[in-house]
Amino acid sequence: MELGIRGKNVVVTGGSMGIGYAAAELFLQEGAYVTIAARNEERLKKAVYELSQKYGEEHIRGVPADCSKEADVKKLAAAAAREDRIDIWVNNVGTNKLR
Ligand SMILES: NC(=O)c1ccc[n+]([C@@H]2O[C@H](COP(=O)([O-])OP(=O)(O)OC[C@H]3O[C@@H](n4cnc5c(N)ncnc54)[C@H](OP(=O)(O)O)[C@@H]3O)[C@@H](O)[C@H]2O)c1
Repeated sequence: MELGIRGKNVVVTGGSMGIGYAAAELFLQEGAYVTIAARNEERLKKAVYELSQKYGEEHIRGVPADCSKEADVKKLAAAAAREDRIDIWVNNVGTNKLR
């Protein structure tokens, strides 16, 4: 299905596993450029490697970031921008105030 997102620049927070990883893969299947972020660098590298094997190294990158920290989110945005642009930002990482 052509969703009109081919070539778009996408960020998925929490993209190294679970729902975020699945979302990143769906964007990649549509031909988007995707940056995934997570805290655990080993798992992040593994996810980037797996996705790069399927969709090409130029389409996927990983940025270590704790998305509960404003400074990390700013760094993530700067690292993910392509031609000064991010088209889609998926705030997949959530938290619970009760935790
Ligand atoms: N699965 C469900 O049934 C369900 C239902 C309702 C809501 N949700 C919500 O949907 C989101 C994803 O769920 P999931 O089941 O896919 O979770 P998951 O399998 O535990 O994956 C969470 C992902 O987010 C990353 N992450 C967690 N905290 C982070 C932080 N502070 N900064 C950056 N990355 C962070 C994790 O990597 P690192 O640990 O390496 O950072 C991992 O990549 C969560 O917010 C969850 O509460 C899930």
